[in-house]
Amino acid sequence: MNSTFAKLFAAAASLPLSCAIVLGASAPPPDINYDESKVGSYTLPDPLVCADGTKVTDAATWRVKRRPEILELFRANMHGRSPARPAEMKFEVTSVDKQALGGRATRKEITVRFGPEPDAPPMRLLLYVPNAAPKPVPAFIGVNFEGNHTIAADPGITLTDQWTWDNKTKTESLKRPGEETRGKSIGRWALDKAFARGYAVATIPRADIEPDYAEGWRHGIRGYSLKKSGRTEFAPDDWGAIGAWAWGLSRALDYFETDSDIDAKHVVVMGHSRMGKTALWAGAQDERFAIVISNDSGEGGAALARRWFGETTAVINKAFPHWFCANFKQFSGHADKLPMDQHELVALSAPRPVYVASAEEDRWADPRGEFLSAKNAGPVYQLFGKEGVGVDEMPAVNHPVGDTVGYHIRTGKHDVTEYDWEQYLRFADRHFGRGK
Ligand code: GCU
Repeated sequence: MNSTFAKLFAAAASLPLSCAIVLGASAPPPDINYDESKVGSYTLPDPLVCADGTKVTDAATWRVKRRPEILELFRANMHGRSPARPAEMKFEVTSVDKQALGGRATRKEITVRFGPEPDAPPMRLLLYVPNAAPKPVPAFIGVNFEGNHTIAADPGITLTDQWTWDNKTKTESLKRPGEETRGKSIGRWALDKAFARGYAVATIPRADIEPDYAEGWRHGIRGYSLKKSGRTEFAPDDWGAIGAWAWGLSRALDYFETDSDIDAKHVVVMGHSRMGKTALWAGAQDERFAIVISNDSGEGGAALARRWFGETTAVINKAFPHWFCANFKQFSGHADKLPMDQHELVALSAPRPVYVASAEEDRWADPRGEFLSAKNAGPVYQLFGKEGVGVDEMPAVNHPVGDTVGYHIRTGKHDVTEYDWEQYLRFADRHFGRGK
């Protein structure tokens, strides 16, 4: 941290505006802040005040007027606009193994084809259905980081080629992941815990929808859609990679609606970190997702943008220029100018249950900012007669709170752990009226 700059900024911030401008304090602080006393004051946009100043006092006005307004703010300024479900989409079940994982689950692999052209990127969906549970079963779905084969040490999962970026050589290449990566992320997918409670678990690889680097869109659904639209450049409010991943989750849900093993009305969308940002956006846009779960989603996810703590709009736009729409760049260092904030993204899940989770050592993601989003989504839930997090202050570590809006901060690092899954499964059971 550049302490000279920080001191100057702190000094300038306490001066009258005219003096502050002389000192150059109108420029955004470039530093990362981990000091709660330096967060500064901010005013959150009120989810219950419409653009024309009308106060929202009932659920109907929220649904008909205010919710569409907030959704539009996120579309226009952050995530961009996503296309409709492709008319020519097809599902091909490419493999079924009824005795997967030692007979505990049926494994299905489904290729989702977005169009008939050979350059239409295939999305490969992996689905495990617990054999012991009566069908149809509820399901959890999330986007995985490095391929379907990383979520379980299951030799039957197809290893698929994916475009990857080498940061050292600054080159991209189409690679088949090695066998040694099978089951690599097993700790983040508590399959047996989910099966024991009767849930299916499904996942899609991020690289199938969009490889995660600045130029990756050329190999994903955004490049394909752009070409189909006859354009060569994205509009400032066209979707970014997070929009694309979220869209992929909705297309997986389209498939669930055709699979008699899955109860498509009880699908939980869940994601970690950048995929937590994705899960929140998927749930906001697609109300068919029954529960929305954000695990350590941080900046651009559950964390309030206006808090100067951990990652900032400036940092995220610089490091991941492809995640959000081009319009979002104007808020780099100017989060206070955003016409919305992330508590309103959480509120877009209302009245459906939503769960926000943080990790104590994950300061980059700003745990307090995540909690405050969950808390400040509460007034929207109250319109529906539902309780939000139910507490004013951040709870102690490992003490989950909340009814329809769940929240916990657990000990440990930025990750998805068994502890997180236990809370999510319990939360889903409670809201789906299961496990009594
Ligand atoms: C980076 C990024 C975060 C993101 C995280 C992840 O740390 O700055 O915004 O959540 O990667 O996805 O793992």
